[in-house]
Amino acid sequence: MGETLLVVGAGQMGGGIAHLAAQSGLEVRLADLDPAQVERAIGRITKLNQRSVEKGRLTSEEAAALIGRIKPVPDVRAGAAGASFAIEAVVERVEVKQAVFSELDAQLGEDAVIATNTSSISITQLAASVRHPDRVVGMHFFNPPVVMKLVEVIRGLPTADRTVARAKALAEAMGRTPIEVKKDSPGFVVNRILMPFLAEAVKVYAEGLASPEDIDTAIRLGLNHPMGPLTLLDFTGIDVCLDVMDYFHHEFGEAAYAPPVEMRRLVRAGRVGKKAGAGFYDYPEEA
Ligand SMILES: NC(=O)c1ccc[n+]([C@@H]2O[C@H](COP(=O)([O-])OP(=O)(O)OC[C@H]3O[C@@H](n4cnc5c(N)ncnc54)[C@H](O)[C@@H]3O)[C@@H](O)[C@H]2O)c1
Repeated sequence: MGETLLVVGAGQMGGGIAHLAAQSGLEVRLADLDPAQVERAIGRITKLNQRSVEKGRLTSEEAAALIGRIKPVPDVRAGAAGASFAIEAVVERVEVKQAVFSELDAQLGEDAVIATNTSSISITQLAASVRHPDRVVGMHFFNPPVVMKLVEVIRGLPTADRTVARAKALAEAMGRTPIEVKKDSPGFVVNRILMPFLAEAVKVYAEGLASPEDIDTAIRLGLNHPMGPLTLLDFTGIDVCLDVMDYFHHEFGEAAYAPPVEMRRLVRAGRVGKKAGAGFYDYPEEA
């Protein structure tokens, strides 16, 4: 079934999801608390399209049609009229998401699905803020959505089978591969596996078993990963990963999830990677 899509939140992820939808031939409405964010998102997509046109991957007509499929809307109310599927991608704060969920619940028709792109908040907890929690599901896209092929589709406790099926079908219509996460659990599948792996790489580094370059080379060439774990930590932000590890440790209550002390030491010293340019490696702004 073709969905009429509304994306709420036009930041890094919401803008990317709208781009992906439009690229896949879907019409998409895009809303944000700050209308300038919608303009910025459309500006970013236009720039990326121009590059694709220059490289011959897209004709200028196709690029114009793609942008034409993204409809800016002033708010959730305007965007919800006639929409059958909403994807929430606002800031990662439970009270903000709950408010957006209540608004979506009030404005959407009863059959509409409400999906959240949260990376860490419980789907079940968010579902509790709507009248029909069976229509709530997690749809965890990866950054940037137009490049990364995976979508984790997460079941909350009350999520209905038909809701999961529609989320999977929408992900497939966007050219992504969905996997189903059958239980609502911190980190879902990918980050649950990734964080202890990154933590172990930091411990190996802190013990002086090998240089940062050799640790990354070992994983790239020994396991065929495209990027070594220390590079990935720098790229994502050591501080961001530390927060996620602290959250896992708190939620699971197991020492196995405790972040290595070396990470906290680096973060306290301001060596967070990413744009600060100094984690395990130095990164220029454009990296
Ligand atoms: N950045 C990533 O790598 C990544 C990957 C997967 C999932 N996520 C998740 O996606 C979500 C969005 O992350 P992001 O990186 O795009 O954040 P972002 O800060 O780039 O964008 C968030 C947007 O939400 C808007 N917003 C805030 N309150 C709002 C409201 N009440 N109504 C409408 N819009 C509102 C902000 O104006 C902003 O444009 C978060 O839940 C995050 O955990 C992020």
